[in-house]
Amino acid sequence: MTAVSEDAIHEVSTWEDVHFVLRSRSFEQVAPEDDYHEGTVLQGKIIGDSVVMARGPAHLERRRLESVLFRIPTLVAYENELVKPRLATILARLEADRGADRVVRGDLVAISQAVLLEVMAKLVGVDVSTPEREDRFRELFVRLDDGSRVRHMVDMHKALEEGLAVQKLFGDEFFRPAWEEHEQLLADVEAGRRPETDVPNDLITLMQRNREHFEQWDEGVYLREATLYVVASTGTTTREIGLCFDVLERWLESHPEDAELRTDPDFLAAAFVESCRLHQSIQDVGRTATEDVTLPSGMVVRKGQPVRVSLVKANRDVVGSSAESFDPRRADPAVGDRAGLAFSDGRHQCIGKILVLGSGNDDNRLGTAVTILQTLYEAGMRADPSTQPTLKATTTKRFATYPIVLTGL
Ligand code: HEM
Repeated sequence: MTAVSEDAIHEVSTWEDVHFVLRSRSFEQVAPEDDYHEGTVLQGKIIGDSVVMARGPAHLERRRLESVLFRIPTLVAYENELVKPRLATILARLEADRGADRVVRGDLVAISQAVLLEVMAKLVGVDVSTPEREDRFRELFVRLDDGSRVRHMVDMHKALEEGLAVQKLFGDEFFRPAWEEHEQLLADVEAGRRPETDVPNDLITLMQRNREHFEQWDEGVYLREATLYVVASTGTTTREIGLCFDVLERWLESHPEDAELRTDPDFLAAAFVESCRLHQSIQDVGRTATEDVTLPSGMVVRKGQPVRVSLVKANRDVVGSSAESFDPRRADPAVGDRAGLAFSDGRHQCIGKILVLGSGNDDNRLGTAVTILQTLYEAGMRADPSTQPTLKATTTKRFATYPIVLTGL
């Protein structure tokens, strides 16, 4: 492969073309061997052959297998048995630690991350049940998260090197011990020593029970798949929660009449998807044509040619002239949903969207993002006037810290 510069890659940027490419059978996920951005090649080293990088029937099969991780009862249990109790524990601890000025302080990024890491550990099947393991896991996560987003890091090579080193530590300290425990558990269940109900609905179980699928790749695929889930789930949601709080608080300064809606789940849900649309976590994705194709705009893409699919530009295009502003009261767009392409579309649409956003009122779930925002707003969350938030060294805006005060505690 020849990695090419950003400028040399053809870009698809209107809503119609982007939507077409994402849903077309004539395009596949861009592969490291295609003439695409070097970041994709580097990213392949850390999450290669994972569901997001898989193509064709292999991808379809992987999606089908992994959809069981997002069964509604599992998601309801995450929200009620993990997210809410964990938030309550964190708030109680912050309250107990209030400073000499009696103000309760916390950090929105750290809180979101702690809660979401626990969900993710459960989803993957790794053990973070002691405070020491949890701390270590968080430390590795932050470094792994940076490494796996090589494309969005200012220094890609340094980020990748660090990412691979941390992935090894994650493998040795968390993934492999969990893998062995799962193997023992499944053997015990098979032999009738333990009941089937002891088997968790997690990624490691799923991979062990579907080896004929995963054996198409080298042994490292299991760790790379788990790495993808670790970084795709927590980092993105944490980023979006911080950005949403930031932009929503600014909206409320100019719309004080909405202040009471800070704890209203419908308003928060609208604010969150609007913020996701505006900030677009993954700005663009790569796709390669599997045959000559003419897009709705008339642009011709030749077989084997990769294109940059600009989700962020398509989002702007569909909303029109007010696209750059945040408006939680925005009407539904004429096409697509209010989150725009924040979660992409077509075969690779984010598998975790339903976990983050909830799935409507039928199961009484708000989704992880609104649950976190609402709980913290109920505790009186406001930006801490005494300390400024800080940003990460990424090419897209991402808070490293967001100090808050909890005025209701
Ligand atoms: C606000 C939070 C999130 C955002 C904005 C987001 C965004 C995205 C986007 C844009 C893609 C599509 C990439 C492409 O088209 O090539 C994607 C894929 C994916 N996401 Fe998310 N994501 C979020 C949360 C999550 C969570 C919580 C999980 C897991 C629990 C998750 C797991 C995945 C996986 C596994 C894929 C690959 C799917 C495939 O290729 O078939 N994401 N995400």
